[in-house]
Amino acid sequence: MAGSLILIGFMGSGKTAVGQELASRSGMGFRDADQAIEEKAGMTVAEIFDSQGEAGFRRLEEETVTDLLDAGAGKVEGLVISLGGGAVTSERLRSRLAAEPLVVLLDTDVELAFHRSQDGSRPLARDQRRFRELYRERQPLYESVAKFRIDTRGKSIRQVTAEILGATGKGPAEF
Ligand code: S3P
Repeated sequence: MAGSLILIGFMGSGKTAVGQELASRSGMGFRDADQAIEEKAGMTVAEIFDSQGEAGFRRLEEETVTDLLDAGAGKVEGLVISLGGGAVTSERLRSRLAAEPLVVLLDTDVELAFHRSQDGSRPLARDQRRFRELYRERQPLYESVAKFRIDTRGKSIRQVTAEILGATGKGPAEF
């Protein structure tokens, strides 16, 4: 079994855009965890935070990501799955990810990540000081489960995608 290619990293690190490009270039299916959560809840992420708090969102996230990882494991080719930046705060999800061979961390600059996260859809990206703190707190969690780490600084989506395909053996590294 090939295994899914799972993208992790902080908000604004490009997981969704890179995930879509990876899927189209590798021929694998693509699932974005936040989108799957929104479909399941019938609400946006911001609405879930407003009505159920962060704890309610994390419960839904844990359930949804577990289902996506199970769906990927059931496919010969696996899936490209991009996770929300906070999925690694769940111990249950971290232990699932520890058993996955293709977990790729997209590393980015915190200031750039903050600017990219200002579209109003991310409740945890409203306060810049808190955003920086979260970035620092999350790094050890990402590193504890990542099998590959890609520095995205100064690189295009196509370049990052090519590096991931090369590193994971899922496709040619040319772009
Ligand atoms: C979050 C990241 C978001 C989304 C939610 C919480 C986080 O996903 O799941 O707003 O705690 O880091 P992206 O990383 O795709 O922005």
